[in-house]
Amino acid sequence: MRLPVSIQPAILEKSMPFGRFIIFSLKSGINLSDLKNTLTFIELNKHIIVGFGEKLMQKLTIEVEDYRLFPQLDASVEIPATHGDLFVFMRDGEPGMVTVNSLPIKNILKPFFDIQLQVDGFKYLGEPDGYGHDLTGYEDGTENPLVDDAVNAVVRKDGSTFVQVQQWKHDLGIFNSFSQQLKDHTIGRRLSDNKELNDAPASSHVNRTDQSTFEIEADILRRSLPWANEHGEGLVFMSFCENLDRFEVQMRRMAGLNDGITDALFTFSKILNSAYFYCPPVTMDFVLKLD
Ligand code: HEM
Repeated sequence: MRLPVSIQPAILEKSMPFGRFIIFSLKSGINLSDLKNTLTFIELNKHIIVGFGEKLMQKLTIEVEDYRLFPQLDASVEIPATHGDLFVFMRDGEPGMVTVNSLPIKNILKPFFDIQLQVDGFKYLGEPDGYGHDLTGYEDGTENPLVDDAVNAVVRKDGSTFVQVQQWKHDLGIFNSFSQQLKDHTIGRRLSDNKELNDAPASSHVNRTDQSTFEIEADILRRSLPWANEHGEGLVFMSFCENLDRFEVQMRRMAGLNDGITDALFTFSKILNSAYFYCPPVTMDFVLKLD
């Protein structure tokens, strides 16, 4: 497997069972060299992923031609484009480590950023080395590209990539009231053996997103985790791809923008927020050392 040394190591390494998604917004009137200096203190290792949003990239004068904000999609379902200036994902084998290790990061970022969103995610079901499941019970990640295919889908020439972060809130009361057949048709796979269904409706999630059915290369690497707190429960969707079009063709089809058919996921789940970030390579001078 060709492993580009300059990609942030946590992006391609296998998932860990606990993760904290933090989206920060840039404060006004901050000192640029202090900000750059602070960013160098973050060590990019297999426990952390960092992504830059539009305002931060402007501040740091990083130009990435094909980076853009998450689009406002004119769909019949709500797809809030909420954006963010900095994304930090912390992950580990147990939740205490995630909490403890995110404290110093949050502390050094505090003079420059406010926390816009923080959500803790966890693995549900699945083998220790396998994919976890969504809270609906279905395995999430089955069709992820592997080894070289994952590298091709994710890594840009210089070792950078883009990350898409989107928090979904489920109404599991609704989903659990579905018959087993309707549940399977909603996802497009059979719960009992995870087989893809041939007779699932066009609205099934797998039919909406089948990566082999787009006019462009549409493989993306998904690393989502379920969440649950006092606001409800659902999935923090997180994916990586070398070109935002890969994700966007899927999102547009899920939203029914091509054929008016919306993804059946929307019958029991809704999107709370969405953002795109640029994940710089570890070689970028003001960003971070490998441990
Ligand atoms: C509530 C949110 C979501 C849930 C619960 C969910 C769950 C699932 C499940 C259970 C599968 C089938 C197994 C697998 O291949 O992983 C799947 C497949 C997939 N999902 Fe999602 N997903 C969600 C959102 C999204 C979003 C926002 C996208 C991209 C825009 C997406 C892209 C994909 C892709 C590309 C596949 C594989 C399709 C294929 O090639 O067979 N998913 N998802």
